[in-house]
Amino acid sequence: MTAPQSSAPPTADLLARLAALLGPSGILTDSSDIAPYCTDWRSLYHGRAAAVLRPAGTAELAQAVALCAEAGVAMVPQGGNTSMVGGATPDESGRDIVVCLSRMNRVRRIDPLDHTMEIEAGVTLKAAQDAARDAGLMLPLSISSEGSAQIGGVLATNAGGNNTVRYGNARELVLGLEVVLPDGSVFNGLRRLRKDNTGYALRQLFVGSEGTLGFITSAILQLQPQPRAVEAALCAVADASAALTLFAAFRDQDPALIQAFEYMSGAGMELVTRLVPGASLPLAEAAPAYVLVELATPRRNADLRAALEDVLAGMFEAGTVSDAVIAESEGQRLALWKLREEHAEAQRRAGASVKNDVSVPVSRVPELIDRASAACAALIPGIRPAPFGHIGDGNIHFNLVQPEGMDPADFLAQDHRIMDTVAAIVRELDGSFSAEHGVGRLKPYMMPDWRGDAELATMRRIKDAIDPHGLMNPATLFPPAG
Ligand code: MLT
Ligand code: ZN
Repeated sequence: MTAPQSSAPPTADLLARLAALLGPSGILTDSSDIAPYCTDWRSLYHGRAAAVLRPAGTAELAQAVALCAEAGVAMVPQGGNTSMVGGATPDESGRDIVVCLSRMNRVRRIDPLDHTMEIEAGVTLKAAQDAARDAGLMLPLSISSEGSAQIGGVLATNAGGNNTVRYGNARELVLGLEVVLPDGSVFNGLRRLRKDNTGYALRQLFVGSEGTLGFITSAILQLQPQPRAVEAALCAVADASAALTLFAAFRDQDPALIQAFEYMSGAGMELVTRLVPGASLPLAEAAPAYVLVELATPRRNADLRAALEDVLAGMFEAGTVSDAVIAESEGQRLALWKLREEHAEAQRRAGASVKNDVSVPVSRVPELIDRASAACAALIPGIRPAPFGHIGDGNIHFNLVQPEGMDPADFLAQDHRIMDTVAAIVRELDGSFSAEHGVGRLKPYMMPDWRGDAELATMRRIKDAIDPHGLMNPATLFPPAG
């Protein structure tokens, strides 16, 4: 049984001690300064916090955590505040303290021979990618929010994104981790070893734990060689089945070349091109669905363009692809990616939306899209399914935009009905109700049903062992005990 949430509100004395420890730039207590930290990117949650801490380093954070723990005050870690499931937003009690590591933003070292990077939690993913590239290497993790998302949050949520199909999720990139535990002690696992069988791989416990077990403060990440050639194409297809036929053709040619393989519905693309300034479709006409495929290789003298054209020619002939455009410059490649990466923003502009970040075995994606679209249309007439995402690893963002003209609040009031309808189909297809966004505050209610007694009980025992007083991110991941 998880310890009941029994956190205390911070006293004036605790806040004074934290202020003395962290200095004026390390603590915010003014309500207008705190406000941006109390709402999530999607505006689903509007919490309250007693203070925001912004420590400058691990030692400072460790001391601050020890003070909070001693006082029984709950802490909510927050990185770039880009969670899709409210996982970094404090609850409404006003007792929690938000802890933000954005001042811990140094890339400490890059070891070219080891292919590793030691990096602090507050570095944005984009800055980390740039640092790796400047060193002639690549950090192969790419998500739509990479300009704001920070390494600490990316690891705490085990982010996936566009390159999972080739390099895996964040978890696969983590060799070492430093964590401040809920009592203020520091677990220093900053080892950069490929082989290290010395007991439990504790670092993996913290990756994906959504801030419920401690604060990830820095990490050793595994890098890849920088590709010498990259080719991207946007392809028009009839549906998700055709997209998978195309995927199979690229995989059959050489699976090691596929760096990203993304699906977009015609409805999603229409929202992007209509609502996002500067986004336009580079094809003669709109299609029912699209694939953005990116090939990349570090090999010298590889004719990647020929490889891309070879598969596309075969697929044109077979009628699988009806039109396609190949990026002729880096600018065009980025323009193609903009069409994909602006999907979430376009949906936000279109009104309220319900997101279902789900995964199924790759082969079952077409059935998922067909069945879930029909079921949601039967549930709420006029609902606008706009599925898109990482079809190459079976992860579809089965997002639904509110019917035109409906009150957004009325639509959002039905979010559980919609999510449960989609989830029931996902379950029949042997999938997961949360592929890469995590559980956050949005989906803990689904945990008992999906994770069964033994699995959830084991998670609770781990939580209780590491955070016995339930002080770390208490509203996230676990359903209320009892
Ligand atoms: C993406 O891949 O763009 C995201 O995970 C966003 C979303 O689900 O809306
Ligand atoms: Zn995604």
